[in-house]
This record gives sequence, C-alpha cells and structure tokens, in this order.
Amino acid sequence: MSNALKASLLATACAVLVACSNGATDNSTSETIGVTDAALSAAVSNPETWLTYGGDYKEQRHSRLSGITKDNIADMGVAWTYDLSTGRGVESTPIIHDGIMYVTGAWSIVHALDAKTGEEIWTYDPEVSGEDAVKGCCDVVNRGVAIYDGKVYLGVFDGRLEALDAKTGDVVWSKVTVDQSLPYTITMAPRIVKGKVIIGNSGGELGVRGYVSAYDAKTGDMDWRFYTVPNPKKEADGAASDPIMAELVNDTWGDTGGWVTDGGGGTAWDSIVFDEENDQILVGVGNGSPWNAKVRDPQSKGDNLFLSSILALDADTGTYKWHFQTTPRDQWDFTATQSIILADLPLGENGADLRVVMQAPKNGFFYVLDAATGEYISGNNFVPMNWATGLDENGRPIEAANARQTDGEPIPIFPGPLGAHNWHPMAYSPKEQLAYIPAQMIPQLYQDMQEEPDPDAYWNIGYNLSAGLPTEYPAGTLDFFRGMNQGWLVAWDPIKQEARWTVKQDGPWNGGVLSLDTGIVLQGQREGALAAYDAANGDKLWSTNVKAGALSGMSTYEIDGEQYMTITTGWGSAYALSASYGYTSPVPPQVGRVVTFKVGGTDTIPDAMEVAIEPTPKSDNFGTSAQVKAGLENYSTNCLVCHGPFAVSAGVLPDLRWSYATADKNEWTDILVNGALSENGMVSFKEQLSPDAMESIRAYVMAQGHMAVSNGEAGGPAGN
Ligand code: HEC
Repeated sequence: MSNALKASLLATACAVLVACSNGATDNSTSETIGVTDAALSAAVSNPETWLTYGGDYKEQRHSRLSGITKDNIADMGVAWTYDLSTGRGVESTPIIHDGIMYVTGAWSIVHALDAKTGEEIWTYDPEVSGEDAVKGCCDVVNRGVAIYDGKVYLGVFDGRLEALDAKTGDVVWSKVTVDQSLPYTITMAPRIVKGKVIIGNSGGELGVRGYVSAYDAKTGDMDWRFYTVPNPKKEADGAASDPIMAELVNDTWGDTGGWVTDGGGGTAWDSIVFDEENDQILVGVGNGSPWNAKVRDPQSKGDNLFLSSILALDADTGTYKWHFQTTPRDQWDFTATQSIILADLPLGENGADLRVVMQAPKNGFFYVLDAATGEYISGNNFVPMNWATGLDENGRPIEAANARQTDGEPIPIFPGPLGAHNWHPMAYSPKEQLAYIPAQMIPQLYQDMQEEPDPDAYWNIGYNLSAGLPTEYPAGTLDFFRGMNQGWLVAWDPIKQEARWTVKQDGPWNGGVLSLDTGIVLQGQREGALAAYDAANGDKLWSTNVKAGALSGMSTYEIDGEQYMTITTGWGSAYALSASYGYTSPVPPQVGRVVTFKVGGTDTIPDAMEVAIEPTPKSDNFGTSAQVKAGLENYSTNCLVCHGPFAVSAGVLPDLRWSYATADKNEWTDILVNGALSENGMVSFKEQLSPDAMESIRAYVMAQGHMAVSNGEAGGPAGN
C-alpha cells in the first residue's frame, strides 16, 4: 500500500471518528450537515460527495467512484434537470454533501437542491445591483460555493463574502471584502483552509490592485490579507505581504504610470489551492492593469512581481513562501489564475514521489514545479504560439523579438488575452498520469492606444480596443476571424511534457474536464455537446446534447448506490460577449440549468424557448464616414466588451445591429443616458459619452447592420 493511500485511509478513519464523537455530544443541525477539516482532507477517499470546487484539496477533479464505466456509459441518461432561471453566463461547479447540491447561477444566486431529485430546498439571492454588471470584465458569472461547518460560503459579484446557513440559506454573516467604489468584483469559488475562508477578487481590466484575504469561517473576521502588487506609494499596508514587498517586489516596479493610479492588477480571481503536505496556500495571480506595460509602468523595465505568478503563502499567516512568475512583465493579459493542480509524480530522487504543482496558464506553457520550493522542474507549450519561442532553463519564457512591438500597426499575438486555457477547469488523472486541458487559440491584435485614454472609460487596458477593426469589410471577413479561433482537448503528460493525445473541437471556449477512475474523461462543449472520452487514448465513448453551451466544471457523486454526474449549462461569459464574432447558426439557447445524469436515467432536457430575432436594421443609414469612424472608436472603447466586435453579438446580449432602440434617437438616448435598462446590467454611459458620441455609435451600428444585409450575412452565421 502506498504512503499516500495509507495517509488518506487514516484521514478517512479520523473523519468518521470526528463525526461519531460530535454526534454523541451535540445534536445541533449544523453538525449533522457540517463539513469538517478532516472531511475536506479525506475528500478523495469519500467520492460519494463533492466537497470542494476542484473535488478535493489537490483540485484534480478526479473521482474514485466506479459506477460509471466504459461498459455502461452508453446507457447514461438524464436523471433530472433544474432551471437556474438565467440567460447569462453560468460557470458553477456544483458542490454535493449529505444528499444536497449547492450550486450558483448568474448574479451570485445560490440554489440548494435535493441531489437525488433536483427538487429545490432553498435559493438565496444576494441582490447584486444591475449597475454593478459594468464592473465585470466577463459577465455576471460565479464559479460556485464552498461548504464547511454547516455553512455555505459565497463570493458575491459586488465584493461581499457571505456565510449562509446550509440548511436554510439564511445569512449568518456578510463582509464587504473590497472598496466598492472601485471596479472590484468576485466570481471565484471561496476555498476553505484550516477554519478560514480564502477569497480573492477580479477587476484587472478596469483598474484595481489585487489581493487575497483570509476570513474566520465562524465569525467572518478578517485574519490576514496579502497584496499581489505593491502599494502605490510603495509603503507598508499593515498586511502579510509587507515584508516581501519591501524586500523583493517594490523594486520590480517604477514609481510612475498607470499602476500607481489604477492599481496594477494582479488579481487572484480563480485558482487558490491548499497544499496540505507543505502547509501552504497556492494562489494563481492575474494580469497587469493596465495590460500595456508601457502604460502601466513606463519608468522601469522590471518584471512587475507578482503579476502572472503562482504564489505560495503560509497557510496560517498568509506570509510569503515562494513564487514562480510565468509571464514576467506581462503585457498580453496572460494571467496565471488558471487551475492549479497538485500531484505526486515520480520526479524525486531515485524516482521517489515528489509533490508538484501543475498549471496550464493563459500564456500557453504547461509548468511543473516542485511544490515545496517553487523550483521550476519542466515546461513546454501545449498550443501553437508566436509570442515566445520556448522556456529557458529556469522556466522563463524566451520572448519573440516582436512580441512587445505594439507601437506600430496592430500585431497579431497568440495565444491572446482569452488565453490558451482560461477558467474552464483542467483535470488530472493520477492513474493515467495525464492532465486534461481545455485548450484553445484565440489570436488578438495588439496596438498601443492612438489617443489619450478617457479617464471615465470603464475598461482601462492601455491598448487600442478598435485595433484591426475596419468600419467596412467584404463578405467573409467575420468567417475568417471566427475561423482563426480553435479549440482542443489536450491530454498532457506532465513528465514527458508532451501531449499523449489531442481531440480537435469545433471551436474554442469548451468546458471544464472531469476525470473518472474508470478511465473516462468528460467535457461539455460550447456547442451544447457533452462528451465522454477514453482517458488513455481520447476515443469518443459517448456524447449527448445538453441543449445549451456547457462550459463549467462538472462534479460527480453517489446516492443510494447510484453514481450521478452533473453539469451546469448556459454559456455567456467572456468569449460570448467579447470575442466570438457572432455565432455559427443556430445560436445555442441561453438556458442556465443544472443537468444531472445517471446510468439508466430517463428524464429529458426541455427544449429552450426560441426567441425570433429579425435581422434587419431598424433605421436607414445615416451619418458621414467620419461619424461612423468615430462611432467605431467609441463603440470599441465602451460597448465592444459586452456587445461584441464588429457590433456582432453571439446571442447572449442583444445584437445592436437589429435593436429596436436604434430606430429612434430618443429611445437610444433613454437607454444610454438615463440607464433605462440598468437593472439588467446595461448602465448609463452619460459620464463616458457625449450626446454626439452616442449618436456616432448609433450611426456605426446601423452601418454594420446594413453592410451585413448587403454582404448577405445578416441572416447567416453572424446574423443569428
Ligand atoms: C457591461 C456590459 C455592457 C456594456 C459595456 C454595454 N452594454 Fe448594452 N446591454 C447590456 C445588457 C446586459 C443589455 C440587455 C439589457 C436588458 O435586457 O434589459 C444591453 C442592452 C442594450 C441595448 C438595448 C438593446 C435591445 O434591443 O434590447 C442597447 C441599445 C445597448 N445595450 C447599447 C449599448 C451601447 C451603445 C453600449 C456602449 C456605449 C453598451 N450598450 C455597452 C450590457 C452592456
């Protein structure tokens, strides 16, 4: 028996004992549904539950249940569905404990369901204001909750961290973890470490300073905070990060530039992992803010620590242990927030097991690090790339000569800001010793800003957001752009640093991966398919249509001897809003749902209600070409990130080319000035745009609509 197995069996025994002794002395309801530290520690040995975002502390998303096999997967059917009542992005991994599923939809709404039947037990709506939607880079998404000690922990979009009674959904405590006057948001699932709730935040595209904090799970009191980038005055914050800032970090930044006024970025918005063996917390740190390093930090040529790094912090005090920077002086939005997975690989002395950290961040390289020290062991690119030619012996990227030459014509870089891998969770099978990466390629044109930035603009990345976007273009242009975007499921051997197998997909932005001990990996797809592959060779074993984009991480659990597998659907999120160049027809219905399967399930997924959109412009063309050109620039700075490049929507948010509101200047103005639709996240732009600028956008949008009609593309792929 391996040491790891012995340790986990021991931990299981402890978990049982703790539960028994509590049961004997305390009958309170919270104890009966409480999750203990021991239970979290032993999660992998109790696969009938799914206790944490990544399945267990190693976040491998690998289940040891054996109910779903290659022999019976063909009989997999729907056990139940639950409507999350949202048409916006859904990214949640369901958590399952004691027969109850805790799952989030859009707008940070939590649903507690009977995990066997899907029946609703309670829902909790933190009532995020529609006005806050504009603070998000990437839709009003949420990736899920944490559970512990009878409570459900929720990171709310507007920066709150809340503890709910797991039985009732009542709020036990609520803390504001950010300065809500700044564009901070939270979309990540909190993590539980030794009685504390660990939470980061998002906002790097809009201008914030990143940090991660630990709150007492019982009381909600803050215990420690670690900033990922320096204090703007390079002064102490009274935080756990102070010593390392003074010793190492401050000198990697100049004293002037966008970072001083706008925060510098480095938000930890997704992956935070507890490494029990080394008693440390691993934090994936995000991109620089503004993205463009010349704007962010014009004075120094420094690495800008800890942007795009994996950080190891002491699990008790939050103080610095080590870091590994994947993209020094990031300037392409190459976050290192992607799934961090821990594993024990035979890479120690004489082939002994060594605890390693694995990550496939946005920059396209797969890294294996020694978890104890952060030392680079190996790395290689898992997608084609042009920004770097490889890694040096320390794992530092060897940048292509022109990768930072953004001062001339727009230059295409891949991977682009949506990453070679984004938030869609990676999985790892210790049996196959393979990591399964939802990989993609979405190139981006980078060009420095041509004009002084508008200080009131929400987005603040230091690049020209209309780079490479003409106002007029021939038929086929959108197809060309869309065709460059690609997706693969890559089974990566972390020891050999090469792909063992790869499945090419219809496009990018596919779902998180679940690995089963029975030799199966499962992945949802943006087109609405949910597919099972042979973990060893990628052969497709099964596939079904879940009738909505399926992007989130899946989970699996067992009740009454039956194994269930569950996914949340509804695609939304960054790609749908900001980079899809429309959609190949038909657009997948935007239905937020929990879809749960079991072998022999006989339920059906209801068809979505189709909303007919008439792809015709609602007013004549108007405006000079100068006005349309100004409209393109104003649109790109203010609207593109939600309504899509070329004014082409992917179907999640309204396609402005066909909007009723374009028919009439007053209606248009009512929405843009008075915020008539702000409840749903369409805020007022009166601080950002003059009436002339608003009208220029209407002219641009109309020009795009009429061109699509004359190009014969209005009702086609891009028209939806
Ligand atoms: C943060 C995301 C976001 C940004 C940025 C944004 N919008 Fe919107 N917009 C929305 C959402 C969400 C809706 C749908 C609102 C609803 O359903 O009530 C919408 C709806 C609209 C509508 C109504 C369309 C219809 O036919 O129903 C118009 C017009 C509009 N937006 C124009 C703009 C313009 C112009 C800009 C840039 C100045 C802009 N939007 C920027 C999110 C955004």
